[in-house]
Amino acid sequence: MDTRRIGDVDVSAIGLGAMPMSIEGRPDEARSLATIHAALDAGITLIDTADAYHLHADDVGHNETLIAKALASHDRGRDVLVATKGGHLRPGDGSWTLDGSPRHLKDACEASLRRLGVEAIGLYQFHRPDPRVPYAESVGAIRDLLDEGKIRMAGISNADPAQIGLANEILGGRLVAVQNQFSPAFRSSEPELRLCDELGIAFLPWSPLGGISRAGELGSAHAAFATIAEARGVSPQRVCLAWMLAKSPVVVPIPGASRPETIRDSAAAVDLVLTTDELAELDAA
Ligand SMILES: NC(=O)c1ccc[n+]([C@@H]2O[C@H](COP(=O)([O-])OP(=O)(O)OC[C@H]3O[C@@H](n4cnc5c(N)ncnc54)[C@H](OP(=O)(O)O)[C@@H]3O)[C@@H](O)[C@H]2O)c1
Repeated sequence: MDTRRIGDVDVSAIGLGAMPMSIEGRPDEARSLATIHAALDAGITLIDTADAYHLHADDVGHNETLIAKALASHDRGRDVLVATKGGHLRPGDGSWTLDGSPRHLKDACEASLRRLGVEAIGLYQFHRPDPRVPYAESVGAIRDLLDEGKIRMAGISNADPAQIGLANEILGGRLVAVQNQFSPAFRSSEPELRLCDELGIAFLPWSPLGGISRAGELGSAHAAFATIAEARGVSPQRVCLAWMLAKSPVVVPIPGASRPETIRDSAAAVDLVLTTDELAELDAA
Protein backbone atom coordinates (compact mmCIF):
# COMPACT_ATOMS: atom_id res chain seq x y z
CA MET A 1 0.00 0.00 0.00
CA ASP A 2 1.33 3.48 -0.95
CA THR A 3 1.88 5.74 2.02
CA ARG A 4 1.38 9.40 2.79
CA ARG A 5 2.50 11.43 5.76
CA ILE A 6 0.59 12.74 8.76
CA GLY A 7 3.06 14.69 10.90
CA ASP A 8 6.00 12.34 11.40
CA VAL A 9 4.01 9.16 10.70
CA ASP A 10 3.71 7.31 7.39
CA VAL A 11 0.14 6.04 6.91
CA SER A 12 -1.62 4.19 4.12
CA ALA A 13 -2.78 6.64 1.43
CA ILE A 14 -6.37 5.45 2.06
CA GLY A 15 -7.67 5.28 5.62
CA LEU A 16 -10.74 3.59 7.08
CA GLY A 17 -13.60 5.79 8.27
CA ALA A 18 -15.10 3.73 11.08
CA MET A 19 -18.25 5.78 11.77
CA PRO A 20 -20.76 3.55 9.89
CA MET A 21 -19.96 0.73 12.31
CA SER A 22 -21.30 2.63 15.32
CA ILE A 23 -24.15 4.95 14.34
CA GLU A 24 -27.62 4.44 12.83
CA GLY A 25 -27.75 1.26 10.74
CA ARG A 26 -24.63 -0.19 12.33
CA PRO A 27 -23.87 -3.87 11.77
CA ASP A 28 -23.32 -6.47 14.48
CA GLU A 29 -19.94 -6.66 16.14
CA ALA A 30 -18.73 -9.68 14.19
CA ARG A 31 -19.20 -7.90 10.84
CA SER A 32 -17.53 -4.76 12.19
CA LEU A 33 -14.50 -6.69 13.42
CA ALA A 34 -14.29 -8.46 10.05
CA THR A 35 -14.43 -5.08 8.29
CA ILE A 36 -11.61 -3.59 10.37
CA HIS A 37 -9.52 -6.76 9.93
CA ALA A 38 -10.13 -6.64 6.15
CA ALA A 39 -8.84 -3.05 6.16
CA LEU A 40 -5.67 -4.12 7.98
CA ASP A 41 -5.21 -7.09 5.65
CA ALA A 42 -5.45 -4.67 2.71
CA GLY A 43 -2.59 -2.63 4.19
CA ILE A 44 -4.59 0.19 5.77
CA THR A 45 -2.75 1.80 8.69
CA LEU A 46 -5.01 4.78 9.44
CA ILE A 47 -8.41 4.49 11.14
CA ASP A 48 -10.59 7.53 11.78
CA THR A 49 -12.98 7.51 14.73
CA ALA A 50 -14.50 9.82 17.37
CA ASP A 51 -15.88 9.48 20.87
CA ALA A 52 -19.23 10.63 19.44
CA TYR A 53 -19.50 7.69 17.03
CA HIS A 54 -22.18 5.87 18.98
CA LEU A 55 -25.95 5.54 18.95
CA HIS A 56 -27.45 5.47 22.42
CA ALA A 57 -26.72 7.91 25.24
CA ASP A 58 -25.08 5.13 27.24
CA ASP A 59 -22.70 3.83 24.58
CA VAL A 60 -20.38 6.83 24.18
CA GLY A 61 -17.14 5.69 22.55
CA HIS A 62 -18.73 2.58 20.97
CA ASN A 63 -16.52 3.04 17.90
CA GLU A 64 -13.28 3.54 19.85
CA THR A 65 -13.97 0.42 21.92
CA LEU A 66 -14.66 -1.57 18.76
CA ILE A 67 -11.42 -0.40 17.14
CA ALA A 68 -9.38 -1.20 20.26
CA LYS A 69 -10.83 -4.72 20.22
CA ALA A 70 -10.16 -5.20 16.51
CA LEU A 71 -6.57 -3.95 16.75
CA ALA A 72 -5.82 -6.13 19.77
CA SER A 73 -6.90 -9.20 17.83
CA HIS A 74 -4.84 -8.59 14.65
CA ASP A 75 -1.09 -8.99 14.30
CA ARG A 76 -0.78 -5.64 12.47
CA GLY A 77 -2.91 -3.77 15.01
CA ARG A 78 0.13 -2.05 16.51
CA ASP A 79 1.05 -0.46 13.17
CA VAL A 80 -2.19 1.53 12.95
CA LEU A 81 -2.50 5.24 13.59
CA VAL A 82 -5.86 5.76 15.31
CA ALA A 83 -7.19 9.26 14.72
CA THR A 84 -9.96 10.12 17.16
CA LYS A 85 -11.82 13.33 17.95
CA GLY A 86 -13.48 15.25 20.75
CA GLY A 87 -15.96 18.10 20.82
CA HIS A 88 -19.19 16.45 19.62
CA LEU A 89 -21.80 14.70 21.77
CA ARG A 90 -24.78 12.51 20.98
CA PRO A 91 -27.49 12.67 23.62
CA GLY A 92 -29.20 9.56 22.17
CA ASP A 93 -32.09 11.18 20.29
CA GLY A 94 -30.28 11.06 16.95
CA SER A 95 -28.89 14.58 17.26
CA TRP A 96 -25.27 15.75 17.33
CA THR A 97 -24.50 18.50 19.85
CA LEU A 98 -21.32 20.45 20.58
CA ASP A 99 -19.07 21.12 23.54
CA GLY A 100 -15.79 22.77 22.64
CA SER A 101 -14.98 23.90 26.18
CA PRO A 102 -11.45 23.12 27.37
CA ARG A 103 -12.87 21.20 30.37
CA HIS A 104 -14.93 18.92 28.14
CA LEU A 105 -12.11 18.36 25.63
CA LYS A 106 -9.68 17.37 28.38
CA ASP A 107 -12.19 14.99 30.02
CA ALA A 108 -13.13 13.55 26.62
CA CYS A 109 -9.48 12.92 25.78
CA GLU A 110 -8.95 11.07 29.08
CA ALA A 111 -11.97 8.86 28.32
CA SER A 112 -10.71 8.17 24.77
CA LEU A 113 -7.29 7.23 26.17
CA ARG A 114 -8.92 4.67 28.46
CA ARG A 115 -11.11 3.19 25.73
CA LEU A 116 -8.27 2.96 23.23
CA GLY A 117 -6.00 1.50 25.94
CA VAL A 118 -3.04 3.71 25.03
CA GLU A 119 -0.80 6.12 26.92
CA ALA A 120 -1.00 8.75 24.19
CA ILE A 121 -3.50 9.17 21.38
CA GLY A 122 -1.83 9.01 17.94
CA LEU A 123 -3.84 11.86 16.38
CA TYR A 124 -6.42 13.85 18.32
CA GLN A 125 -8.71 16.13 16.32
CA PHE A 126 -10.94 18.94 17.54
CA HIS A 127 -14.18 17.73 15.94
CA ARG A 128 -16.06 20.94 15.15
CA PRO A 129 -15.96 24.63 16.18
CA ASP A 130 -18.42 25.37 18.98
CA PRO A 131 -19.95 28.85 18.43
CA ARG A 132 -20.34 29.26 22.21
CA VAL A 133 -16.61 28.86 22.86
CA PRO A 134 -13.87 31.06 21.34
CA TYR A 135 -11.98 28.90 18.82
CA ALA A 136 -8.64 29.84 20.41
CA GLU A 137 -9.82 28.42 23.76
CA SER A 138 -10.81 25.06 22.24
CA VAL A 139 -7.58 24.76 20.30
CA GLY A 140 -5.68 25.90 23.40
CA ALA A 141 -6.97 22.77 25.14
CA ILE A 142 -5.64 20.63 22.28
CA ARG A 143 -2.25 22.40 22.64
CA ASP A 144 -2.24 21.60 26.37
CA LEU A 145 -2.97 17.92 25.64
CA LEU A 146 -0.06 17.92 23.19
CA ASP A 147 2.27 19.58 25.70
CA GLU A 148 1.23 17.10 28.42
CA GLY A 149 1.96 14.15 26.11
CA LYS A 150 -1.65 12.89 26.21
CA ILE A 151 -1.76 13.13 22.43
CA ARG A 152 1.11 12.59 19.97
CA MET A 153 -0.28 14.75 17.16
CA ALA A 154 -2.99 17.39 16.83
CA GLY A 155 -5.60 17.95 14.13
CA ILE A 156 -8.76 19.95 13.55
CA SER A 157 -11.95 19.23 11.64
CA ASN A 158 -14.63 21.30 9.92
CA ALA A 159 -12.36 24.32 9.84
CA ASP A 160 -12.14 27.23 7.40
CA PRO A 161 -8.86 28.76 6.18
CA ALA A 162 -8.80 31.39 8.97
CA GLN A 163 -9.33 28.70 11.61
CA ILE A 164 -6.58 26.57 10.08
CA GLY A 165 -4.17 29.52 10.33
CA LEU A 166 -5.24 30.33 13.89
CA ALA A 167 -5.03 26.71 15.03
CA ASN A 168 -1.55 26.29 13.56
CA GLU A 169 -0.43 29.47 15.31
CA ILE A 170 -1.86 28.40 18.69
CA LEU A 171 -0.30 24.96 18.29
CA GLY A 172 3.06 26.58 17.54
CA GLY A 173 3.22 25.18 13.99
CA ARG A 174 2.31 21.67 15.17
CA LEU A 175 -1.02 21.30 13.32
CA VAL A 176 -0.60 18.09 11.28
CA ALA A 177 -4.09 17.37 9.90
CA VAL A 178 -7.30 19.04 8.76
CA GLN A 179 -10.40 16.88 8.24
CA ASN A 180 -13.15 18.50 6.16
CA GLN A 181 -16.07 17.31 4.08
CA PHE A 182 -14.98 16.79 0.48
CA SER A 183 -16.57 14.64 -2.23
CA PRO A 184 -17.78 14.90 -5.85
CA ALA A 185 -21.04 16.31 -4.47
CA PHE A 186 -19.36 18.65 -1.97
CA ARG A 187 -16.32 20.47 -3.31
CA SER A 188 -16.40 23.70 -1.34
CA SER A 189 -13.44 22.61 0.81
CA GLU A 190 -11.05 23.16 -2.13
CA PRO A 191 -9.62 26.35 -0.50
CA GLU A 192 -8.79 24.38 2.69
CA LEU A 193 -7.30 21.56 0.61
CA ARG A 194 -5.10 24.07 -1.26
CA LEU A 195 -4.01 25.75 1.99
CA CYS A 196 -3.06 22.38 3.50
CA ASP A 197 -1.09 21.60 0.33
CA GLU A 198 0.82 24.90 0.71
CA LEU A 199 1.49 24.33 4.42
CA GLY A 200 2.33 20.62 4.10
CA ILE A 201 -0.56 19.66 6.43
CA ALA A 202 -2.45 16.40 5.77
CA PHE A 203 -5.97 16.92 4.41
CA LEU A 204 -8.44 14.15 5.27
CA PRO A 205 -11.62 14.35 3.16
CA TRP A 206 -14.60 13.12 5.22
CA SER A 207 -17.61 11.46 3.56
CA PRO A 208 -15.42 11.27 0.43
CA LEU A 209 -18.02 9.15 -1.39
CA GLY A 210 -20.90 11.48 -0.57
CA GLY A 211 -21.91 10.02 2.80
CA ILE A 212 -23.30 6.79 4.20
CA SER A 213 -26.69 6.94 2.48
CA ARG A 214 -25.51 8.48 -0.82
CA ALA A 215 -22.22 6.65 -1.50
CA GLY A 216 -24.00 4.06 -3.66
CA GLU A 217 -25.40 6.75 -5.95
CA LEU A 218 -22.00 8.15 -6.84
CA GLY A 219 -21.99 6.80 -10.39
CA SER A 220 -25.53 7.85 -11.24
CA ALA A 221 -25.26 11.31 -9.63
CA HIS A 222 -21.96 12.06 -11.37
CA ALA A 223 -21.96 10.28 -14.72
CA ALA A 224 -18.30 11.00 -15.46
CA PHE A 225 -17.26 8.81 -12.51
CA ALA A 226 -19.44 5.95 -13.82
CA THR A 227 -18.16 6.31 -17.38
CA ILE A 228 -14.49 6.21 -16.38
CA ALA A 229 -15.21 3.39 -13.92
CA GLU A 230 -16.78 1.29 -16.65
CA ALA A 231 -13.90 1.92 -19.04
CA ARG A 232 -11.38 0.96 -16.35
CA GLY A 233 -13.40 -2.01 -15.06
CA VAL A 234 -13.52 -0.67 -11.49
CA SER A 235 -16.17 0.87 -9.22
CA PRO A 236 -17.09 4.59 -9.40
CA GLN A 237 -16.13 4.79 -5.71
CA ARG A 238 -12.61 3.65 -6.55
CA VAL A 239 -12.39 6.26 -9.32
CA CYS A 240 -13.55 8.91 -6.86
CA LEU A 241 -10.84 8.06 -4.33
CA ALA A 242 -8.14 7.93 -7.05
CA TRP A 243 -9.28 11.37 -8.26
CA MET A 244 -8.90 12.74 -4.71
CA LEU A 245 -5.48 11.18 -4.22
CA ALA A 246 -4.32 12.90 -7.41
CA LYS A 247 -5.29 16.34 -6.08
CA SER A 248 -2.29 16.63 -3.77
CA PRO A 249 0.15 14.41 -1.89
CA VAL A 250 -1.30 15.76 1.37
CA VAL A 251 -4.73 14.19 0.67
CA VAL A 252 -5.58 11.05 2.69
CA PRO A 253 -9.24 10.05 2.11
CA ILE A 254 -11.02 8.13 4.87
CA PRO A 255 -13.89 6.26 3.16
CA GLY A 256 -16.40 4.77 5.58
CA ALA A 257 -17.24 1.07 5.52
CA SER A 258 -19.29 -1.45 7.40
CA ARG A 259 -18.50 -4.41 5.14
CA PRO A 260 -15.15 -6.04 4.29
CA GLU A 261 -15.78 -5.87 0.54
CA THR A 262 -16.31 -2.11 0.44
CA ILE A 263 -13.12 -1.23 2.32
CA ARG A 264 -11.16 -3.71 0.19
CA ASP A 265 -12.48 -2.02 -2.95
CA SER A 266 -11.68 1.45 -1.58
CA ALA A 267 -8.15 0.44 -0.52
CA ALA A 268 -7.42 -0.63 -4.11
CA ALA A 269 -7.85 3.01 -5.23
CA VAL A 270 -4.16 3.60 -4.44
CA ASP A 271 -3.28 1.46 -7.48
CA LEU A 272 -5.56 3.31 -9.89
CA VAL A 273 -3.63 6.04 -11.70
CA LEU A 274 -5.93 8.30 -13.70
CA THR A 275 -4.75 10.16 -16.80
CA THR A 276 -4.58 13.96 -16.98
CA ASP A 277 -7.60 13.92 -19.32
CA GLU A 278 -9.62 11.72 -16.95
CA LEU A 279 -8.76 13.97 -14.00
CA ALA A 280 -9.79 17.09 -15.93
CA GLU A 281 -13.09 15.44 -16.84
CA LEU A 282 -13.78 14.55 -13.19
CA ASP A 283 -12.81 18.05 -12.03
CA ALA A 284 -15.40 19.44 -14.41
CA ALA A 285 -18.11 16.84 -13.62
N1 LIG B 1 -15.13 15.13 10.91
C1 LIG B 1 -16.42 15.03 10.70
O1 LIG B 1 -17.21 15.90 11.07
C2 LIG B 1 -16.94 13.81 9.99
C3 LIG B 1 -18.27 13.75 9.55
C4 LIG B 1 -18.69 12.61 8.87
C5 LIG B 1 -17.81 11.56 8.65
N2 LIG B 1 -16.52 11.63 9.13
C6 LIG B 1 -15.55 10.54 8.91
O2 LIG B 1 -15.46 10.28 7.52
C7 LIG B 1 -15.67 8.89 7.31
C8 LIG B 1 -16.27 8.65 5.96
O3 LIG B 1 -17.50 9.29 5.83
P1 LIG B 1 -18.89 8.50 5.76
O4 LIG B 1 -18.71 7.17 6.33
O5 LIG B 1 -19.91 9.42 6.31
O6 LIG B 1 -19.22 8.47 4.20
P2 LIG B 1 -18.53 7.91 2.87
O7 LIG B 1 -17.16 7.46 3.13
O8 LIG B 1 -18.73 8.93 1.85
O9 LIG B 1 -19.48 6.69 2.54
C9 LIG B 1 -19.49 5.56 3.37
C10 LIG B 1 -20.36 4.52 2.73
O10 LIG B 1 -19.84 4.20 1.48
C11 LIG B 1 -19.94 2.83 1.24
N3 LIG B 1 -18.71 2.47 0.52
C12 LIG B 1 -17.44 2.61 0.98
N4 LIG B 1 -16.55 2.20 0.05
C13 LIG B 1 -17.29 1.77 -1.00
C14 LIG B 1 -16.94 1.21 -2.25
N5 LIG B 1 -15.66 1.04 -2.59
N6 LIG B 1 -17.95 0.87 -3.09
C15 LIG B 1 -19.25 1.06 -2.74
N7 LIG B 1 -19.63 1.59 -1.55
C16 LIG B 1 -18.66 1.93 -0.69
C17 LIG B 1 -19.96 2.14 2.58
O11 LIG B 1 -20.84 1.06 2.47
P3 LIG B 1 -20.95 -0.15 3.53
O12 LIG B 1 -21.44 0.49 4.80
O13 LIG B 1 -21.93 -1.05 2.90
O14 LIG B 1 -19.59 -0.72 3.71
C18 LIG B 1 -20.39 3.24 3.54
O15 LIG B 1 -21.68 3.05 4.03
C19 LIG B 1 -16.56 8.47 8.47
O16 LIG B 1 -16.56 7.08 8.64
C20 LIG B 1 -15.94 9.24 9.60
O17 LIG B 1 -14.79 8.55 10.05
C21 LIG B 1 -16.08 12.74 9.79
